[in-house]
Amino acid sequence: MSPRDRELAVAIIESFDSKPEMLIQLLHGFVDKFGYVSEAAIRLIADELNLSRADVHGVVSYYHDFRTEKPGRHIVKICQAEACQAMGSRKLTEHVERRLGVELHQDSEAVSLQPVYCLGNCACAPAVMIDGKTWGRVTSERFDALIEQELNT
Ligand code: FES
Repeated sequence: MSPRDRELAVAIIESFDSKPEMLIQLLHGFVDKFGYVSEAAIRLIADELNLSRADVHGVVSYYHDFRTEKPGRHIVKICQAEACQAMGSRKLTEHVERRLGVELHQDSEAVSLQPVYCLGNCACAPAVMIDGKTWGRVTSERFDALIEQELNT
């Protein structure tokens, strides 16, 4: 962890008064700032909150929102829930995996590909989210155009 990142990390911890009962909120703060909770961050949080590393690690690994690996620069989520599956999200997922060169749950330096279970866009299935923006009725061709557009903006 760089000195600057450590400074930011300590500021996050102190913004929750270094209270162990605020661990989950604090971890969300790390994800918002860094995109993940590194092993170095887990050590720092444990020390500052007077918890064991196993305690912090246990919470990080229990919740899907937290990850210990650095994500790709862009986050692509494909809905795998029922309405989207009925409209071809599995086939779309196979296309996206080939197009991006990563499988679901994997990361490259450029992109992280994640499943999601309903984006609240069921009427326009299949739905995809790229860097927080939701798109509906996504075909393979439309995905290629969207990813080109979104990664180059
Ligand atoms: S099921 Fe895919 S957006 Fe709701």
